[in-house]
Amino acid sequence: MIKIAPSILAADFSKLAEEVKEVEAAGAELIHIDVMDGHFVPNITMGPIVVEALRPVTNLPLDVHLMIENPDAYIEQFAKAGADYITVHVEACRHLHRTIQLIRSFGVKPGVVLNPHTPIEHILHILEDVDLVLFMTVNPGFGGQKFIHSVVPKVKQLSDVIKEKGLNIEIEIDGGINEETIIPCAEAGATIFVAGSAIFNTENREEALQRIKAAGES
Ligand code: DX5
Ligand code: ZN
Repeated sequence: MIKIAPSILAADFSKLAEEVKEVEAAGAELIHIDVMDGHFVPNITMGPIVVEALRPVTNLPLDVHLMIENPDAYIEQFAKAGADYITVHVEACRHLHRTIQLIRSFGVKPGVVLNPHTPIEHILHILEDVDLVLFMTVNPGFGGQKFIHSVVPKVKQLSDVIKEKGLNIEIEIDGGINEETIIPCAEAGATIFVAGSAIFNTENREEALQRIKAAGES
């Protein structure tokens, strides 16, 4: 079962609510919200007030991807704003276990994110504590970048570990996903796919979303 999480980073911000409703009607399973602070990544986007504004607009889970330094300082705000998932970068967390527990303490599902070059060994000892592992297949910071193929073997590696240990963890992929790049990732065991430009930069969002999903399920 493949789930598509459109990234609103590629949406038209002057009518964000309509954009979210459109992809919900088109068959999206989650709404992906990219939070950037200008420090962890070279770009600034949105904060908890956007999560709060979107909460009443959709019934879909809000998947909040924190690309920020010191995420612990903002987790409560994002949780109270209505996040269903909060994912933090292993590269930004000095005390990852503490951060993951903090997310869970607010009743939010925690996930951990790996940059393209980060080995899965960095998260093997936290797997029991997370609901989600997100693999970046671009360098975080911007939408519309090219998919980095060398991440795919890492996805397979982790998927094998998850099966071996019998854990209930979903694998999510973020960056450069389209109807071609989704295929090797789905084969490697990922089930949730973020797509920004491949959905929002098209005339017919429903057709784009359904084509990507169908390719992942093929
Ligand atoms: C990149 C963000 C992604 C981005 C994906 O830093 O984390 O979620 O919006 O955009 P596309 O699908 O265009 O690569
Ligand atoms: Zn993202």
